Amino acid sequence: MSPAGSAASDAGLRPRILLVLAVSLDGRLAPAGGGAAQLGGAGDRRALEEALVWADGCLIGAETLRLHGSTCLIRQADLQERRQREGRSAQPWALAVSRSGQFDPLLPFFSQPLRRGLLAPAGAGSSPPAGFDRLWALPPGDPGVAGLPVDLSQAPQGSRGWAALLAQLAAEGLARLLLLGGARLAASLLALDLVDGLQLTLVPRLLGGAHSWLPATPLPAPGSWELQESRPLGQGELLLRYCRPGQLPPWKLSPDNSALVTSPQSIPPWNSLPWQAP
Ligand SMILES: NC(=O)c1ccc[n+]([C@@H]2O[C@H](COP(=O)([O-])OP(=O)(O)OC[C@H]3O[C@@H](n4cnc5c(N)ncnc54)[C@H](OP(=O)(O)O)[C@@H]3O)[C@@H](O)[C@H]2O)c1
Repeated sequence: MSPAGSAASDAGLRPRILLVLAVSLDGRLAPAGGGAAQLGGAGDRRALEEALVWADGCLIGAETLRLHGSTCLIRQADLQERRQREGRSAQPWALAVSRSGQFDPLLPFFSQPLRRGLLAPAGAGSSPPAGFDRLWALPPGDPGVAGLPVDLSQAPQGSRGWAALLAQLAAEGLARLLLLGGARLAASLLALDLVDGLQLTLVPRLLGGAHSWLPATPLPAPGSWELQESRPLGQGELLLRYCRPGQLPPWKLSPDNSALVTSPQSIPPWNSLPWQAP
């Protein structure tokens, strides 16, 4: 049975991936000192929860999870009701992405009321480690296992491992994914050209320091993005949603513009992806 029960879970499709971050005016996602960053205010929280309502699952970099200890939940009652009305689980899956698979079992994450998946290179077995409901493994020996942040110029060779994994997720009902950071995980998937949309909350702060929302390494295919929506969120914050030029965004706005809603028909088949082998 499909773990997520999404209407968009057709075999042969890939998930749509929306990167969601709060960034400072100077493009930082964390203060100079690092640590668990909390940049956004109430408006950003609302926008994040709207995106969580849309999502079947959330990809979270291992370091972000270790630092924050937990992941974001949908807490606002009207948004919880929206998912209930659609017959979906109360929260999207939390999908931790890690090469090491090492997490402190006492993290509050392991007590949160949601389903937990681990995306990691295939290890000794197929059973999920303690605390996780599922293990999704990148194929052994595939360069995609390395995830590429070290040498992003090798990105096209790394796409196959991720492509296979994402196809499996879509086939199991995880067709709409949020990418919740951090910078290294975001860079991996942007380098593979696997991100369909950007949801950035611009937060009116200047932070300086080294923690840009993408690492300094150049992207192999820089590409451009088309603005779909810009909206003040209060407290000087600005919501910006972008998708690839000429492509349908992986979301639609609800009639009252208050939330992202499902747009499964905009999920392209595998053979329309730029990195797909002919
Ligand atoms: N402002 C925001 O919206 C926002 C959002 C999220 C995070 N943050 C901040 O971002 C910072 C953390 O970001 P970060 O860049 O240091 O770390 P990160 O991207 O969260 O996590 C890096 C780790 O994720 C795993 N990983 C990354 N790419 C992978 C791939 N392609 N394949 C397999 N595993 C992969 C590896 O885990 P292993 O080490 O286990 O191998 C890697 O060490 C924190 O300060 C956090 O507060 C801010």
